[in-house]
Amino acid sequence: MSNNIQEMQNVKSLREVNIKDKRVLIRVDFNVPMDSELNISDDTRIREAIPTINYCIDNGAKSIILVSHLGRPQGRSNEFSLKHILKRLERLLAKDVVFVDNLENAQVTLNTLVDGSIVLLENIRFHEGEEKNNPELSQKLASLCDIYVNDAFGTAHRKHSSTYGIANFAKEKVAGLLLKKEIDSFAIALSNPLRPLLLIVGGSKVSSKLTLLKSILDVVDKIIIGGAMSNTFLQAVGYDMKNSLIEENLLEEARNILRNAKEKGVKIYLPVDVVSTDNLKEPKEIKISPAQDIQEGLMAVDIGPATVKLFNEVIRDCETIIWNGPLGVYENQKFSRGTFSISHTIADTYSYSVIGGGDTADAVDKAGNKDGMSFTSTGGGASLELLEGAVLPAFEVLDKRV
Ligand code: 3PG
Repeated sequence: MSNNIQEMQNVKSLREVNIKDKRVLIRVDFNVPMDSELNISDDTRIREAIPTINYCIDNGAKSIILVSHLGRPQGRSNEFSLKHILKRLERLLAKDVVFVDNLENAQVTLNTLVDGSIVLLENIRFHEGEEKNNPELSQKLASLCDIYVNDAFGTAHRKHSSTYGIANFAKEKVAGLLLKKEIDSFAIALSNPLRPLLLIVGGSKVSSKLTLLKSILDVVDKIIIGGAMSNTFLQAVGYDMKNSLIEENLLEEARNILRNAKEKGVKIYLPVDVVSTDNLKEPKEIKISPAQDIQEGLMAVDIGPATVKLFNEVIRDCETIIWNGPLGVYENQKFSRGTFSISHTIADTYSYSVIGGGDTADAVDKAGNKDGMSFTSTGGGASLELLEGAVLPAFEVLDKRV
């Protein structure tokens, strides 16, 4: 894992190339959550891209072309148009941005613009070729620029035209400031970290974290398992989890993980009590009980107060903490206490804490602890794959330092 991290850290950064009077194409990740009226509900990813864009402005780039996806559209649609983020981007940059809704017109538009202009291309996933890593599309994108900058950490695990294939055609290809910050922050936690090193893992499915749980055993000292995925582990050690979400087909796998962890000297902590309910949306009954004593007809939806106490003690004893996945159904205020308490405790420590993106970042934000964490990633899927030990494709194709 450590070698792969070093390989990713070794990519050339935007600061190491001369961008004066050059056309710079930046792959950003503006895939932000929107409400039903298409208002941005969290603009973190746009904010996090601003330093790279400002760096290009300050260093005299001739033009800056921003490329992103938004959502998972099937062809063109208003719902997934990047024009909905244009105003916020302009406000955060305090600059006008030219919106180009058709890639075919991009070159012509660029030729008419004054130096220092910023262009935002329409959702790149409106092109069928993007997710297929189509060489023609990659080449077309590369032809718009002298320097390709990847700053889309959230999409760094995708082999798409704008994140991967474009590098075959771009003259210079480097990492943006966010991409560098992400990998350097994960490196502090994963390459030679201060120990004990703790992984807190949650979320609904063991299946989605199976690779992580297997590979991370060689890296961490302790693992806290919560969220619905801990139900499968508790069932695997012989508890009757009643109506809780269980992955029956992974019970043996869960036992293997517990066995391997023991052999490797990695301590695993499971919930000792749970909050359970009859119905997630309209709960009539909510009970706290030992994990062994869940009432007939109820399902576990949060860790209980004794578990919070136990997990807090483990957390306070660790020097480095990586957290990926909420510990209960935190979206429902009634079942958010466990996740939020753990968030408060991590924020209160002096340990180095890295928060995986996606749901975990959202939970930390809702708990009001965003500023208390050492680093919060902008990538959900990308940070998971990074923790699994992979070299992310976006890093693979960038120019290296040596
Ligand atoms: C994300 O939100 O995780 C990234 O923007 C990647 O999006 P995707 O999972 O649709 O590729």
